[in-house]
Amino acid sequence: MEKISLHNGVKMPQLGFGVWQVEEKEAVTAVKKALETGYRSIDTAAIYKNERGVGKAIKESGLPREELFITTKVWNSDQGYERTLLALEESLDKLELDYVDLYLIHWPTPEFDEYVDTYKALEKLYHKGKVKAIGVCNFDIEHLRRLLDECDVLPALNQVECHAYLAQHELKDFCKQQGIYVEAWSPLMQGGEVLKDDVIRKIAQKHGKTPAQVIIRWHLQNDTIVIPKSVTPSRIEENFQVFDFELNTNEINEMNSLDRNERKGPLPSEMNIR
Ligand SMILES: NC(=O)c1ccc[n+]([C@@H]2O[C@H](COP(=O)([O-])OP(=O)(O)OC[C@H]3O[C@@H](n4cnc5c(N)ncnc54)[C@H](OP(=O)(O)O)[C@@H]3O)[C@@H](O)[C@H]2O)c1
Repeated sequence: MEKISLHNGVKMPQLGFGVWQVEEKEAVTAVKKALETGYRSIDTAAIYKNERGVGKAIKESGLPREELFITTKVWNSDQGYERTLLALEESLDKLELDYVDLYLIHWPTPEFDEYVDTYKALEKLYHKGKVKAIGVCNFDIEHLRRLLDECDVLPALNQVECHAYLAQHELKDFCKQQGIYVEAWSPLMQGGEVLKDDVIRKIAQKHGKTPAQVIIRWHLQNDTIVIPKSVTPSRIEENFQVFDFELNTNEINEMNSLDRNERKGPLPSEMNIR
């Protein structure tokens, strides 16, 4: 498993396991299967309502805490300095953990204009050691610029929708210049059209791999952190078998040019639900 080094030196597996839309009970089974397969990084969120399930799976896996990298996120309705401090306590309680490895703001919700205060709470939690790294999700360049101007700790990463049809070239370039990693959510486009793309299928056939494996490999070789989700045991394994082949420069370029600016989720500036 390849690990990347976040700007503060914290090591994070570049391939992790996402659990959005996995209900509590199923999360126990899926996360246990993922940990058995070799994943060590789990991405959950307060709003996924499965933190207890993730915590149970971690406990039952018997793996040492220091081998794991656990991410959770503060939901929009908990934004604001004091509420965020409490939200982390609730998440830790559900996860049955003393700290998380990464704590993220889930959406900037710019209409409410609280993300700077929220981020300051993350900084406080970081300095207290309750979270080993802090970052954001779904931040556009303008939202990141504001944090860079008004806050002290550089976000370790920005978790955004990213797949072959939404390559995020501009945002990625900006993040790279700043030393902020990009983490891809919906890396398989939620099991959608990218898996049927002719270019991707052709590359997959050449390598004797599946389209999903080629897509995950493309994310990895583009220096992106990637967190595919599956509740299907064979797919959990399939998505992890990506360290025994490499895409060449032409293949990476071919995949980079599939971008259509096509989203599954909302535009971050327009997502103001609480
Ligand atoms: N920060 C945010 O705002 C945000 C938003 C969305 C997601 N996320 C995070 O990112 C993670 C991943 O994104 P996602 O869950 O939206 O979508 P995804 O990982 O792109 O795709 C998951 C879907 O693809 C299917 N799938 C998985 N592996 C497959 C394979 N090898 N072949 C064919 N189909 C496959 C899954 O089906 P089965 O499960 O039925 O196998 C599921 O329907 C989430 O779980 C969550 O942790 C974050």
